[in-house]
Amino acid sequence: VRCTSAAEVADAIARLAVRGAPAIGLAAAYGLAVEARRGGDVHAAAELLASTRPTAVNLRWALDRATEQGTDAEALERFADGLARAQLEQDKAIARLGSELIAPGSRVLTHCNTGALATGGGGTALGVIVAAQPSHVWVDETRPLFQGARLTAWELQQEGLSFEVVPDASAAALMARGLVDAIVVGADRIAANGDTANKIGTYGVAVAAAHHGIPFYVAAPLSSVDPAAPDGAAIPIEERAEEEVLSALGVPVAPPGANARNLAFDVTPADLIAGIVCEAGVMRPPYGAAIARALAARPETGVLQDRDT
Ligand code: MRU
Repeated sequence: VRCTSAAEVADAIARLAVRGAPAIGLAAAYGLAVEARRGGDVHAAAELLASTRPTAVNLRWALDRATEQGTDAEALERFADGLARAQLEQDKAIARLGSELIAPGSRVLTHCNTGALATGGGGTALGVIVAAQPSHVWVDETRPLFQGARLTAWELQQEGLSFEVVPDASAAALMARGLVDAIVVGADRIAANGDTANKIGTYGVAVAAAHHGIPFYVAAPLSSVDPAAPDGAAIPIEERAEEEVLSALGVPVAPPGANARNLAFDVTPADLIAGIVCEAGVMRPPYGAAIARALAARPETGVLQDRDT
């Protein structure tokens, strides 16, 4: 997908041509650089880009850091390049740290897509899974848009890992049969207390995992943390078009005239999360203190400068 203006990037983000919290932050940063290059209004472009998807805080975080650089095209492009390099490094650290949580021979379940296609780097939760080399991966198909079946399955094929795509509704049944040893998912926004918004269906997986005593981990960079949101109730949840639920990839499944509710994300309470893996380490409950410490230790911009690489 070739974008030559911020409006085209905003459209690509809104229709999920690029999706996944870190990847949309990165795309938006490049969107500003492209807009500056064509002589457009960078601040208006930032507002347009920020309005596309409300839940992933990486989008707003990247736009705020980018506009701090000014409106010069070269400076904005340098910032976006630095962000891309930083995400690669962060993903590597997350994969290494998170893989230590997964015992050899584990069967791991994941939800949505958190691989390279979602970050621009090596992936967060899926990066952890690939680094851990589990014996099997259960891939939730991730209704209504099938990020699991379409993207995660493809990425696992490239990695040569053993996996099966499963309907979202079967995750609890797989746990009840003793077929799941650990769960790793990504995040769109982590509140200051550790409550975590992620793709709709994640919360149900976490509830079932708690019932079955299975560890449920979140893997995400610190740019997914929103210290201004005290808890999950403060996280805005995107609602998308009814048609995404009433049809499956364009094929109508519900009768004409049926209505649908399409919450794109849900919030998993911190007390259901065994650990949050970020580039600085594995945070454990109580998350409030651990998150505050990790944010305080983070470099000012969270973006690598040329001299850092
Ligand atoms: O609607 P999407 O496909 O952008 O949702 C993506 C997710 O929920 C991911 O789990 C999250 O953004 C983390 S991606 C590393």
